[in-house]
Amino acid sequence: MPEIEMKGITKRFGKVTAAANINLKIKEGEYVTILGPSGCGKTTLVKILSGIWEPTEGDCFIDGKKVTGIPTFERDLGYIFQNIALFPHMTVWQNTSYAPIVKDRGQDVMEKTTTENLELVNLLQRKGFKPFELSGGEQQKAGIARALCSGSKLLILDEPLSALDARVRLDLRYVIKNLVKSKGLTAIHVTHDQEEAMSISDRIVLMRAGGIVEVDTPENLYNRPKNLFTANFIGEASFIEGRIIDNNEDNCCTMRARNGYKLKIRNDSCMMKGAGVVIAVRPENLFISRKEEDNSIPGEIQDKIFMGSFMRYRIMLATDDLVQVEIAEAIDKTFNIGDNVNVIFKSEKLLVYPRPKEGLQEVLSLE
Ligand SMILES: Nc1ncnc2c1ncn2[C@@H]1O[C@H](COP(=O)(O)OP(=O)(O)O)[C@@H](O)[C@H]1O
Ligand SMILES: [Mg+2]
Repeated sequence: MPEIEMKGITKRFGKVTAAANINLKIKEGEYVTILGPSGCGKTTLVKILSGIWEPTEGDCFIDGKKVTGIPTFERDLGYIFQNIALFPHMTVWQNTSYAPIVKDRGQDVMEKTTTENLELVNLLQRKGFKPFELSGGEQQKAGIARALCSGSKLLILDEPLSALDARVRLDLRYVIKNLVKSKGLTAIHVTHDQEEAMSISDRIVLMRAGGIVEVDTPENLYNRPKNLFTANFIGEASFIEGRIIDNNEDNCCTMRARNGYKLKIRNDSCMMKGAGVVIAVRPENLFISRKEEDNSIPGEIQDKIFMGSFMRYRIMLATDDLVQVEIAEAIDKTFNIGDNVNVIFKSEKLLVYPRPKEGLQEVLSLE
């Protein structure tokens, strides 16, 4: 199984830097997604890894071997695109068996691998169909079977689900992930959909504007994001800016938000009195009460949205910050739009960051 390394990869198109000094290691057998907003350089990275483009600077290594200058077909990888790239005049069987035939693997091997992989994606019964006779999901499954038939241990999937209907997209996620794991492949999956990335990845590489923001497991990126951008892009979060107004005591301090409201926050990184600070908080970690409560800020409910298993409230705080709060629907029938409530902040549930010099909105923006 292949191990991947990118060292100092930079790609420029004239004045645009699509990838800027990317360093990344992917372990063999890992399912890694490259996640980030449109235009951040995801496709650029996988095109460089697969040899479709050469980097302006830097090198890629597959299994320790430098592949710079080596053409795609000699890199031994399967590539699946967003726009399903089946040969339109060939049947499912002909499309799928293409690699074994081109590689001259012999009739027996060709028949065995083609049958096996079509079975894996549940398309053997459709082997005589042409692409136009298949649904979008089936076409992409045929594309996957074709890539698997190449026998490559490295699979690159560039937005493989983005062109499909929502329902099909959800099912096919797990089909792909399970295939990759059962065959012991290494997979690099590009997506702009954070929920998709969360649900299938061993690790997520989060990108923004040509650079890597953070690489970690979905759990760590959600629960302990090191960056404000990550806290905003992965899952949902509300943000409140302020300033620290006392000295650190037992890793806790007081933050003064806008309009004089105060919150107790954790201060594990020992920020000094006077420092600018931003807290981020997930909607399920905020609570609402009608009464005065410890560590709370008053606000008015602006929106109430039924989400099935929970209710989402959008609340304008007296600090002029809009926060989102999720409450399990079963325990809440009582809050309504226009109600004045107190939003409770539990300090152990708050993510705390130094206030960025360039401004919060700049750091959170997608570009
Ligand atoms: N062939 C190209 N010529 C010029 N600019 C390009 C080309 N391909 C991509 N870019 C630019 O590089 C940046 C990254 O693009 P891309 O890797 O396709 O992003 P993503 O896949 O994350 O949406 C974008 O600003 C895009 O406009
Ligand atoms: Mg892309």
